[in-house]
Amino acid sequence: MPPHLYTHLALALILLISSPPCASAATTDTLAAGAGQALAAGDKLVSRNGKFALGFYKPALPAGSKLVGNVTSPGWYLAVWFNMIPVCTPVWVANRARPITDAEMKLAKLKLSQDGGGNSSLAVVVSNGTGSIVVWSAQADAATTTMNSTTTAVLLDSGNLVLRAPPNVSLWQSFDHPTDLAIPGMKFGWNKRTGVERRGTSKKNLIDPGPGAYSVQLNSRGIILSRDDPYMEYWTWSSVNLAYKMIPLLNSLLQMNAETRGFLTPYYVNNDEEEYFMYQSSNESSSSFVSVDMSGQLKLSIWSPSAQSWKEVYAQPPDACTPFATCGPFGVCNGNADPFCDCLESFSRRSPQDWELKDRSGGCVRNTPLDCPSGDRRSTDMFHAIARVALPANQQRQDNAATQSDCQEACLRNCSCNAYAYKDSTCFVWHSELLNVKLRDSIESLSEDTLFLRLAAKDMPVSSANSSRGKPAAVAAAAAAAAGVVGFGLLMLFLIRRNKSKCCGVPLHHSQSSSGIAAFRYTDLSHATKNFSEKLGSGGFGSVFKGVLSNSSTPVAVKRLDGLHQGEKQFRAEVSSLGLIQHINLVKLIGFCYEGDKRLLVYEHMVNGSLDAHLFHSNGAILDWRTRHQIAMGVARGLSYLHESCRECIIHCDIKPENILLDASFAPKIADFGMAAFVGRDFSRVLTTFRGTKGYLAPEWLSGVAITPKVDVYSFGMVLLEIVSGRRNLSEAQTSNNYHFDYFPVQAIGKLHEGDVQNLLDPRLHGDFNLEEAERVCKVACWCIQENEIDRPSMGEVLRVLEGLQDVDMAPMPRLLAAIAQRSHV
Ligand SMILES: *[C@@H]1O[C@H](CO)[C@@H](O)[C@H](O)[C@H]1NC(C)=O
Ligand SMILES: *[C@@H]1O[C@H](CO)[C@@H](O)[C@H](O)[C@H]1NC(C)=O
Ligand SMILES: *[C@@H]1O[C@H](CO)[C@@H](O)[C@H](O)[C@H]1NC(C)=O
Ligand SMILES: *[C@@H]1O[C@H](CO)[C@@H](O)[C@H](O)[C@H]1NC(C)=O
Ligand SMILES: *[C@@H]1O[C@H](CO)[C@@H](O)[C@H](O)[C@H]1NC(C)=O
Ligand SMILES: *[C@@H]1O[C@H](CO)[C@@H](O)[C@H](O)[C@H]1NC(C)=O
Ligand SMILES: *[C@@H]1O[C@H](CO)[C@@H](O)[C@H](O)[C@H]1NC(C)=O
Repeated sequence: MPPHLYTHLALALILLISSPPCASAATTDTLAAGAGQALAAGDKLVSRNGKFALGFYKPALPAGSKLVGNVTSPGWYLAVWFNMIPVCTPVWVANRARPITDAEMKLAKLKLSQDGGGNSSLAVVVSNGTGSIVVWSAQADAATTTMNSTTTAVLLDSGNLVLRAPPNVSLWQSFDHPTDLAIPGMKFGWNKRTGVERRGTSKKNLIDPGPGAYSVQLNSRGIILSRDDPYMEYWTWSSVNLAYKMIPLLNSLLQMNAETRGFLTPYYVNNDEEEYFMYQSSNESSSSFVSVDMSGQLKLSIWSPSAQSWKEVYAQPPDACTPFATCGPFGVCNGNADPFCDCLESFSRRSPQDWELKDRSGGCVRNTPLDCPSGDRRSTDMFHAIARVALPANQQRQDNAATQSDCQEACLRNCSCNAYAYKDSTCFVWHSELLNVKLRDSIESLSEDTLFLRLAAKDMPVSSANSSRGKPAAVAAAAAAAAGVVGFGLLMLFLIRRNKSKCCGVPLHHSQSSSGIAAFRYTDLSHATKNFSEKLGSGGFGSVFKGVLSNSSTPVAVKRLDGLHQGEKQFRAEVSSLGLIQHINLVKLIGFCYEGDKRLLVYEHMVNGSLDAHLFHSNGAILDWRTRHQIAMGVARGLSYLHESCRECIIHCDIKPENILLDASFAPKIADFGMAAFVGRDFSRVLTTFRGTKGYLAPEWLSGVAITPKVDVYSFGMVLLEIVSGRRNLSEAQTSNNYHFDYFPVQAIGKLHEGDVQNLLDPRLHGDFNLEEAERVCKVACWCIQENEIDRPSMGEVLRVLEGLQDVDMAPMPRLLAAIAQRSHV
């Protein structure tokens, strides 16, 4: 033990608690058992490299905070922090749930203490001579080993506080008990032998490191981000994805970023003993951490010496509104706004101070209580319509309300009712706090849910006050038109092809074996595409260019995304879906470029272009039946893989002939994952953004219920019919002629019921097809386009039918289609 320790202890006693948090004289890296060996307020252990310190600190308000007066931290904490950084940043907190009060701090010490039996522990003890309280203690992790007088506590260069017994046995380490963040070298995961799962939990607020609402853990199911109370898992990555895709992807992302390039390396280890995620830094003088922050996102932060502040360089999930209920009860989240959290109309922050400290769990409260009359008097409350909104969690169906005004009345009659929504002839009410309300993205939004928020009459915003009482609001009429009974407004939404044709028809060609995806520099891609000279296609999101990679002579298709916001979303969707999976029937993403405002994606180039060109605009050879059947099965295989084989289900959301590419041998590959969505296996996550293309859209997109893979099944059914007929289900000419649909799916089901399959097939086949196969394809297509998603088969079942391994009955005529058929006969 270094002799100067005693001097420092003496000095520390004099300084006592007068020193500011996170700053004091440096001493040693080791604390041993025995007399005089203790750490009091103002003392610290410093790792040999000087980078980390262990001691007591009291969190202070960040510099420049608007909060003044008596907003103070709950107390003192034993913590390890970055010692060479002027912004106090703890990386580990011992007693996070049990702060030490100012009075206690005068008597508190960290020491290795022995009990009568010779056992010892590292503990924070408040002792006044007559009695003592153990505020926190570290127990040896292995039950068989105990600490004794030879045990020491060492703060290693990595920032890990380790309890050691000679010669070199680790009994306990702080890295095994994470607080809210991980630093390089710390294993984050679980031990398969002991079952111990490490869990990071966010801080409560900026000055209270106590456990907050959001947690991250890695267990047998993968990485899980969840929120407590109510418990909700809102983000998961399966282990399979971690190993083969997440790490290469993260590597590429870290390479792309100038702040992390070349020195941060992620690792993922999965063996018989343990499974963990870790990252290493090869630059000793850099400082970084990955934390689960108070808003529920995982963030990688790097210290910027020039700015003298932490910089967030990466966040997952990227959308700040994904973490469940991040704005708290009666809050509303808007990912495009800054700040992204606000209160609902006529609500105010329950505690402005907590919000300022980044703790929004208290959410918002009504400005005026609701009017809850007893007896027969009708409540005077009104409803404020909030359009384009993702409805809150925990809705209740109100069964006995047939119309919107019934629904409104039902809500008004019960004083615990806070809001209602009426869609698809169904009434939904909310009796508890409104959680997870999100404003929808206006750019992609087509179907728009409207939430009717109950407010006291005097709180009604002026603009909607005169129209919202007693009768359904004028605003509601629009919603009713979209969500109401079978009306033409609704039908048109399905049937009209969207004007916005995205960059489709990307001809790509497959090559190259797989091993992660590459990050390209903009200049390389500019060179590869001869300065973006050979355009293959274009659309609302950008253009696609042909190119050749110079080092491998690989022909590629380069998609350049335009439009800052939408381009970014597309980019992230594609990279996080296609970047992580591989299948013979999914187009391969070779790499990307992420530089400044440049967002480019590099795919394998497919020589035969997209399916729509061959089906609808062919002036050369037409696809024969065998090829069409192979294409149908290939697409079914690709989709079935997306839905069922990945641990995390991916819904493509935009299946149409334009997004099915054909390689040299006409094998199909599904492309354009710009709208793809990850959903948990239980489909509890409701998509927040409307996606897809009219003509291929499943009806549930309009009903606001949770979207499942059955939306892809619906679109695939529509594509099957187009493959069979060689024509668009709904042509451009028909679109303009609103009231006389010659709608192919209607004819198809009709003809199928009459047993007349021949007449459904593309006349250009000249009768050269396999009747049995054709009938199977038509039958299964008709099941796929059933209105009720429960009636639709899964992609796995569809595939078995197409392969002839499973029989299928005749499908009934969907109600909606029947209505169109009737109208078209008028
Ligand atoms: C300090 O806070 C307490 C309660 O949090 C409050 O009652 C008191 O008025 C505050 N004092 C000042 C000076 O702001
Ligand atoms: C020492 O600690 C171990 C494990 O905590 C316990 O089983 C044992 O009884 C303790 N011994 C004494 C003498 O207290
Ligand atoms: C000393 O601490 C003990 C335990 O916390 C407490 O019961 C006792 O009242 C304290 N004595 C004095 C003199 O503060
Ligand atoms: C202290 O414990 C270690 C192992 O935990 C053991 O190897 C050592 O012999 C013990 N020393 C004494 C003095 O009990
Ligand atoms: C102590 O053990 C650790 C791992 O078990 C090892 O990395 C380290 O080099 C050892 N130290 C000494 C001084 O033997
Ligand atoms: C290491 O990190 C420090 C601090 O971030 C930086 O100034 C320095 O340039 C880095 N060194 C290398 C070789 O990247
Ligand atoms: C109001 O609704 C809640 C929740 O559905 C129910 O428990 C309660 O009984 C209702 N109150 C009245 C007066 O109907």
